Amino acid sequence: MNSIYQEIILEHYKNPHNFGTIKDPTKKTSAANPLCGDEIEIAILFKKNKVEEIKFKGRGCAISQASASILTDFVLGKVKDDLKKLDKDFMIKLLGIELGPNRIKCALLSLEALHKLIV
Ligand code: FES
Repeated sequence: MNSIYQEIILEHYKNPHNFGTIKDPTKKTSAANPLCGDEIEIAILFKKNKVEEIKFKGRGCAISQASASILTDFVLGKVKDDLKKLDKDFMIKLLGIELGPNRIKCALLSLEALHKLIV
């Protein structure tokens, strides 16, 4: 793993951005990895089709929690339709690290939750 990206991941894990809940979200949902039980809850508030606020809570490994922090940073202010295009390759690029098959599941947990919010 590239050490600069590794440091960024650890920093997001220790001090997650957009951590918490939204009082009156447009929608909220969760996603879990059944293999380990790790979980992400995510809530979103849209205003005029744009993401006004997004918050998450969760428990789990550094990759899953840091991914949620990094993804929610990216999503803020974006238009709903653009979020539908985000996929596995986007997530890998966003994180900037190489991940094995097991760790990919960790990284995709927050993206899975996000997709449930924008259907
Ligand atoms: Fe559970 Fe990473 S080990 S999501």
